[in-house]
Amino acid sequence: MKSNLLLKNMTIRFDREILHDVSYEFKSGYFYLLQGQSGIGKSSLLNVLGLLKRPIAGEVVYDGQNLWSLDDATQARVRLKDYGFVFQQHNLIDTMTLEENLKVPLLKSNLPEAKKAARVTAILDKLGLEDQRHMLPEDLSGGEDQRGAIGRALISGARII
Ligand SMILES: Nc1ncnc2c1ncn2[C@@H]1O[C@H](COP(=O)(O)OP(=O)(O)O)[C@@H](O)[C@H]1O
Ligand SMILES: [Mg+2]
Repeated sequence: MKSNLLLKNMTIRFDREILHDVSYEFKSGYFYLLQGQSGIGKSSLLNVLGLLKRPIAGEVVYDGQNLWSLDDATQARVRLKDYGFVFQQHNLIDTMTLEENLKVPLLKSNLPEAKKAARVTAILDKLGLEDQRHMLPEDLSGGEDQRGAIGRALISGARII
């Protein structure tokens, strides 16, 4: 199902106000580029959209629901099922191999093991990471780590990356 992501009247404040009364509609099927000088509030905005940081005011509406009105457990399920995250750094869990990291979003899925393994193989192939399959994140290059994170973001078919 196609659904737009709405940011409604969002305000972010730490010791000072970072963003004030921001609204925007992110349309399904589009890529968005968020541009601005360092410290302007880009990551803060993404953290609010990603259900990682609760705003002072405002809503994030998806499938007709304000995601910030959901309880913690339901939010966690939404993050797992509907979101794929690629952070700027420290993406992968450092005690797990690349393959194990890629399978994290599938931990609660009913998919048979063989299907999960096939998906991992397909993603590793697409990202050129077949040789790194059993490596730990500390042994990956920065770019390999980032590509691994992209693979993890895509593996479960998340609708919001
Ligand atoms: N947890 C926090 N506590 C206090 N100030 C913060 C916190 N997180 C971010 N800030 C401040 O908010 C502003 C916006 O930060 P951020 O969203 O990370 O900027 P950007 O990603 O655009 O570079 C910065 O001035 C930053 O120092
Ligand atoms: Mg940032």
